[in-house]
Amino acid sequence: MIVVETVKEVREIIREKKKSGLKIGFVPTMGCLHRGHVSLLDVASKLSDYVVVSIFVNPIQFGPNEDYEKYPRTFEQDKIMCEKHNVHMVFHPSVKEIYPEGFSTFVEVEGQIGKVLCGAKRKGHFRGVATIVTKLFNIVEPDIAIFGQKDAQQAFIIKKMVKDMNIPIEIVVSETIREKDGLAMSSRNNYLSKEERAVAPIIKQALDEAYSAFLNNEIKASSLKKIVEKKISSCPLFKIDYVEIVDTVTFFPVEEVVKPSLLAVAAYLGKTRLIDNVFLTK
Ligand code: PAF
Repeated sequence: MIVVETVKEVREIIREKKKSGLKIGFVPTMGCLHRGHVSLLDVASKLSDYVVVSIFVNPIQFGPNEDYEKYPRTFEQDKIMCEKHNVHMVFHPSVKEIYPEGFSTFVEVEGQIGKVLCGAKRKGHFRGVATIVTKLFNIVEPDIAIFGQKDAQQAFIIKKMVKDMNIPIEIVVSETIREKDGLAMSSRNNYLSKEERAVAPIIKQALDEAYSAFLNNEIKASSLKKIVEKKISSCPLFKIDYVEIVDTVTFFPVEEVVKPSLLAVAAYLGKTRLIDNVFLTK
């Protein structure tokens, strides 16, 4: 496994690999790798011949009052994990390499898909994500790229972006990996105190309760959302940011779940913002 820090070097190596006919798989990350990432690396290994992982905490996808400075940086551990999981190249650029002085071009996510859920609550977040992912795609030029289902809206946005912008990369979305008690794996789980960690699985329990109700023919979005809100609010450590059900094609909130929909939640547990989701389809 090699660690590469410059765009130029990535390009030179990838060009050679492509000349030898290798299929390039790519997993973009912000590091602090956990089992959720590992599952993405394993999918990449299965679907491609040469696996590239980027580790870059992207400043432009964090809002001014968010956790860019304190976002966990665990590069040495991440490298070991990548090596164990058959990664061939880790791209670990500096902020200056990605955003040199004078950088001024961004990818905007217009339309409903960028306006709801985290798009409404984290202004500029998806602009930052779409911009860095476009840059990384242009640098690595992979054949396939793997994203996690936990960030469902991000995955939908990237899929739409490659379609809208004719980017010739196949996007694979891989299932959410959970702790034994149901908590979705996230680098931000590291922020939780012992007390917060103990109650964190309530989010998944809330989603499960709503999903069971849906399977029992409750299709009213307001009722399903109420189930989630009630469960999460039963623990005073939580503060709900949003609970929403959107159509997975239009991304407009639905009143009744009669087409495939996404039930998505964001909630603060203390200072930590956690997200999770479930598809409402039968
Ligand atoms: O999901 C993430 O970790 C980030 O949003 C991504 C896709 C690596 C872009 O910085």
